[in-house]
Amino acid sequence: MPRGRFLSLEGGEGAGKSTQARALAAALREHGVEAVVTREPGGSPGAEAIRALLLEGEPGRWSARAETLLFAAARADHVEKVIRPALYAGHWVICDRFVDSTRAYQGVAGGIDDADVLALHAFGSEGLLPDRTFLLTVAPEVGAARATERDRGATDRFASRDAAFHVAVAAAFATFEGRAEGSPERFRRIDASQPPEQVTAAMLHDMADWLP
Ligand code: TMP
Repeated sequence: MPRGRFLSLEGGEGAGKSTQARALAAALREHGVEAVVTREPGGSPGAEAIRALLLEGEPGRWSARAETLLFAAARADHVEKVIRPALYAGHWVICDRFVDSTRAYQGVAGGIDDADVLALHAFGSEGLLPDRTFLLTVAPEVGAARATERDRGATDRFASRDAAFHVAVAAAFATFEGRAEGSPERFRRIDASQPPEQVTAAMLHDMADWLP
């Protein structure tokens, strides 16, 4: 059985990643592909427990370094328990955020060196990278407005980030495309301000050669 394809969806808040992960899985199933949808932080029981540590409590609960280690630990468990077994069973995996979120949020926006994020990933997850990463882009102010609407009343540790932080995250994702360290050829930028069905179609079209 050939290994399944590993896809990640990345971008700032409110880009529509979760909706698109489900829509892409449904579209792939129509092509006869068994697709598993998962998310980070979380996706396995251990990683979901770490997610609660990351999202609950005071904004200053974790230092940037401790937070980076927690994301890497959650990812290690998720990769070992869910992602690799699914890929080796021949399923495709669609992950709502993966290591590029740590590179953008804790790395560029949070001040942790990209080389350190990638070194932790090499150890924790044996360096597993997606076959394709779709960067869903919307203007940061549009994404932030959508996320505020969606999360109304939510009080997680990350809810208090300001507009400047979201702009920094959006800029960070944009820099990964051309950088060799993270394997630049896996990135595809998708305009997520289009109607949702066009966003899904654009991703599917990009992977036409991989479909059975
Ligand atoms: P979510 O809103 O996509 O569920 O993600 C929860 C928050 O965690 C979101 O603000 C992005 C943040 N995050 C990081 O800071 N680093 C990471 O590595 C991941 C996966 C998420």
